[in-house]
Amino acid sequence: MTNFPSHKRGWSELKREMNEARSNDLIWNNDRTFKPAYFAGDDVLEVAQESYHMYINENALYSKTSYPSLYQYETELVGIIVDLLNGPDGSGGTFTSGGTESNLMAMKTAREWAKEHHSGSGTPEIVVPRTAHPSFEKGAAVLEMKVVRLQESPNLTVDLAAMEKAITANTIMLVGSAPPYNYGHTDPVTAMGAIAQQHGLWMHVDSCLGGFILPFAREFDSTIPEFDFSVSTVRSISVDLHKYAYSAKGISALMLRDKTHADYNRTSFNDWPGGLYSTPNLSGSRSGGAIASAWAVINYLGWEGYRKIVLDLIQLRKKFLAGINAIAGLRVIGNPQTFQFAFGSEEFDIYAVADAMEDLNWKIGRAREPHSIQLMINSSHHSTADEFLSDLETVSARVAAGNIKARDIKSVYAT
Ligand SMILES: Cc1ncc(COP(=O)(O)O)c(C=O)c1O
Repeated sequence: MTNFPSHKRGWSELKREMNEARSNDLIWNNDRTFKPAYFAGDDVLEVAQESYHMYINENALYSKTSYPSLYQYETELVGIIVDLLNGPDGSGGTFTSGGTESNLMAMKTAREWAKEHHSGSGTPEIVVPRTAHPSFEKGAAVLEMKVVRLQESPNLTVDLAAMEKAITANTIMLVGSAPPYNYGHTDPVTAMGAIAQQHGLWMHVDSCLGGFILPFAREFDSTIPEFDFSVSTVRSISVDLHKYAYSAKGISALMLRDKTHADYNRTSFNDWPGGLYSTPNLSGSRSGGAIASAWAVINYLGWEGYRKIVLDLIQLRKKFLAGINAIAGLRVIGNPQTFQFAFGSEEFDIYAVADAMEDLNWKIGRAREPHSIQLMINSSHHSTADEFLSDLETVSARVAAGNIKARDIKSVYAT
């Protein structure tokens, strides 16, 4: 246990100590790192960091009353994201600290909406596909709700018949993901929304990972289904700006087809000495830097910039997928439409391949169902794609020949 420091220390000494301490940390945007990180080049990073730094101490809790510039960025960002996700007139959104909070706020909004529109009297339930993000379980713990997580996921997408069967008198919400975290595909949002409508349920789309990919990717890939407000039954969408929008960390949005539904996620309180306290999310203090960073990067790149990045990554993904599928015994899982995907093997132990690739200093992810290696790609991987695929081929052949055994490493998402 560390005691409270008794003496002052100089910043240069502390800085040196911190630089030493971080020397073993993952270099998130290194071209050998395929773990979740969002990098669109040094110029974009500079914009994200400098704009964050300009507002590093401003508290977005007070944007409306004290920081008109932050309030302007927030207002403009809502319009920008509504436009991106085909929101009709009357749609809007609010900002949160990340995807987990956005999904949690979607659950709260649906829960409060259901009190007025739904007759169930027990614990409110939501039905989610097997592949949905664990943030829904976290939301259920906080909001005293229940998650019914489907067990079946044929071809990784949701089993629609099982989803409908799981609906009870207490179900208030269905969730689709665009994409779910692991495999990069898009859930059949239109079909799920039809089920939601038929049963009078709230339809939420978790597009934390894909909200800034799919609108651009759909221009180049006609197999990507509609997933946003153009599906008339979708009531809310969570979308992270600190992922593929390339903002600095700490900002996501919960977008609503009907912006008046934001009243359901607002907490207002007046009966204390401080006066009216009213926030549209879970957070109190929020980083002004994250808002400034999102506003700056989105305006820096524009539609043109994101479109170019997405096209470039589609081509890079093609190279990875073709290269992986060409290696004996390996196969890409599912139909990745975004930039995180997984591959496994029915012939040999893919975790042994993962161990050996890590020994060659590749930083990769793992998934469990089925056992697989997970890659998230970004533009820095152009320089290492050939070397990665060549190492993968060599290592896979050695594992297949029985020359490498797996260490006892489990798949861990986060602890
Ligand atoms: C699909 C999806 N939803 C929600 C989240 C949670 O986002 P955050 O880690 O920003 O809370 C993630 C994170 O990767 C995600 O991939």
